[in-house]
Amino acid sequence: MSPHKGDTLLPSTTAEVAPAKRSTSAGLRFVKGLLVGIALWTCLHAAGVARVPACLSDALVGEEYNAEAQCPQVSAVTPEKSSELWSSLGETLSTDAFKTRAVEWLGGAVRVPTQSFDKMGPVGEDPRWEVFGPFHDYLLKAFPLVHSTLELTKVNTWGLVYVWKGSDASLKPLLLAAHQDVVPVNPDTVDKWTHPPFSGYFDGERIWGRGSSDDKSGLIAIMSTIESLLERNFQPTRGVVLTFGFDEETSGLHGAASLSEYLVKTFGENAFLLLVDEGGGFAQEYDGVVATPAVAEKGYIDVRVEVTSPGGHSSVPPSHTTIGILSQLLVHYEANPYEPILSRDTPMYWKSQCLAAHVPGLPHKLRKALKKGVKSDHALKEAQKELFKERAFRALVGTTQAIDLINGGVKTNALPEQAWAVVNHRIATDSSVDAVKEHDTALLKSLAQEFNLSYAAFGSQVTGEDAPAYGTLTLTDAWGTALEPAPISPIDAPEYALLSGTIKATYNAHRSLKKDDSIVVAPGIMSGNTDTRYYWALTPHIYRYNHHNSGNGTALSNGVHTINESIDADAFVEMIRFFSTLILNADEFSA
Ligand SMILES: *[C@@H]1O[C@H](CO)[C@@H](O)[C@H](O)[C@H]1NC(C)=O
Ligand SMILES: *[C@@H]1O[C@H](CO)[C@@H](O)[C@H](O)[C@H]1NC(C)=O
Ligand SMILES: [Zn+2]
Repeated sequence: MSPHKGDTLLPSTTAEVAPAKRSTSAGLRFVKGLLVGIALWTCLHAAGVARVPACLSDALVGEEYNAEAQCPQVSAVTPEKSSELWSSLGETLSTDAFKTRAVEWLGGAVRVPTQSFDKMGPVGEDPRWEVFGPFHDYLLKAFPLVHSTLELTKVNTWGLVYVWKGSDASLKPLLLAAHQDVVPVNPDTVDKWTHPPFSGYFDGERIWGRGSSDDKSGLIAIMSTIESLLERNFQPTRGVVLTFGFDEETSGLHGAASLSEYLVKTFGENAFLLLVDEGGGFAQEYDGVVATPAVAEKGYIDVRVEVTSPGGHSSVPPSHTTIGILSQLLVHYEANPYEPILSRDTPMYWKSQCLAAHVPGLPHKLRKALKKGVKSDHALKEAQKELFKERAFRALVGTTQAIDLINGGVKTNALPEQAWAVVNHRIATDSSVDAVKEHDTALLKSLAQEFNLSYAAFGSQVTGEDAPAYGTLTLTDAWGTALEPAPISPIDAPEYALLSGTIKATYNAHRSLKKDDSIVVAPGIMSGNTDTRYYWALTPHIYRYNHHNSGNGTALSNGVHTINESIDADAFVEMIRFFSTLILNADEFSA
């Protein structure tokens, strides 16, 4: 994933929560009164006088709250036609011998460094892309059956598309995505790694190195799955297509962008059953385990704020230099953050409702507020207040701003004629690039006037068109990389149920569990962008999820993008189990 990874949250038929039934008839009013009476009596006896208010409000909320309506859960889905194959493969996955094999597959991939850097030149010109040659050689050697059976096309030299044809060409293929590139290792930090960053070292528990988690684990899990299925002579009815980009960590401009063009040209728009790419996993939340396939991604824009004003000798300064003015604009930004709002038609709200509906250990007050919040705006605000105490949650819900770059001035005795800064925004799933542009433009207007600056924003003149001005203020999309929030993948669709059921089956099979409620599936979102940003046209059902076990929920504790990146070998095998189950389930799926 990109440096701005996501947490992920829960699903929605909640988007269309029916308004509460209004009990207008006298008969219903009587029944309701009776229920209140009974609840009061029960609370008095069960909870004692002091606890009556809390007990009573719970009882009354419970009367109307329908957990299944707020966060539907499906049962585990396991293959039927291929049930024997699934069981026998499952047994193999549980063996030490298979774990050893999986460790070698992934370790070998980590040992071929495939770093991608910012601002790389085109493929064929910039020599740094050549690192993918040895990686392709490695894949060829490690997965012989995949290469002798699937059809491989290289797109823009290093992008990989593997097609595993199904016997029924009328079925939309399953699309699995991952990326070959990794974030560079800072050479100054190499000696801080417990095991060297490109060692792929296995310490008996974890596999170490850059990419062991992000995202060679995803790519190699997919390849290992297919190699294992081919070893058992599985022939799919529904096709499976793999698409592996090579610059996801630097925006996918050369990789996924070209791959997307190729896939649309070859297969057409809306040609795939569903798409699974890197993203969410599962983790302990409160006293439950929650899987959060990301059904959306936040949008993105870097706003460049540039100020110019007359230069001169600094011995005769004006009261505000260009840098001083820019500073005041930036202070104004930080004094006026975007106000996040948890609205009912967003994935983060759906996730919250899944917590309230199905996850034990949620603070009583929060659960109550969420349940009441289905109808009551006041209660929803209460819930929001609780949830926003966690900075990460708050950041996922709203549009964020972070001043990440600043530049200005060349010499201590010269007044700066120009100064600029870049404000990074992650745009809320229910907002838009235009809304952010308008917001920022309006935010700085009064200061532009105060400092007598001619103000232009995103190509339009805002103020100072006709009058002479002291200087200029210009807002632009810094690198022309603005991105709308992704379309939200529907969670009331059979494709989402297929994914949910697969997650439950995988989790249970890996632990020999039987109960459907051992893991809760809740929709989430990504705060950053994956290669899927280029794949919107391929299917409306895009899930950023590869079933990695995030343990206690500290998502980045496995060293992703930093020192000590590593993955638990058992967690990696579980990812293989997930992809095996997904491919076999999708093969038998009919909507
Ligand atoms: C890397 O792991 C070692 C222990 O294996 C630890 O001492 C060190 O602090 C870790 N470094 C970072 C930056 O987390
Ligand atoms: C703005 O600055 C210009 C150029 O210095 C000056 O001519 C003009 O009078 C100023 N306008 C105001 C409102 O101060
Ligand atoms: Zn990644």
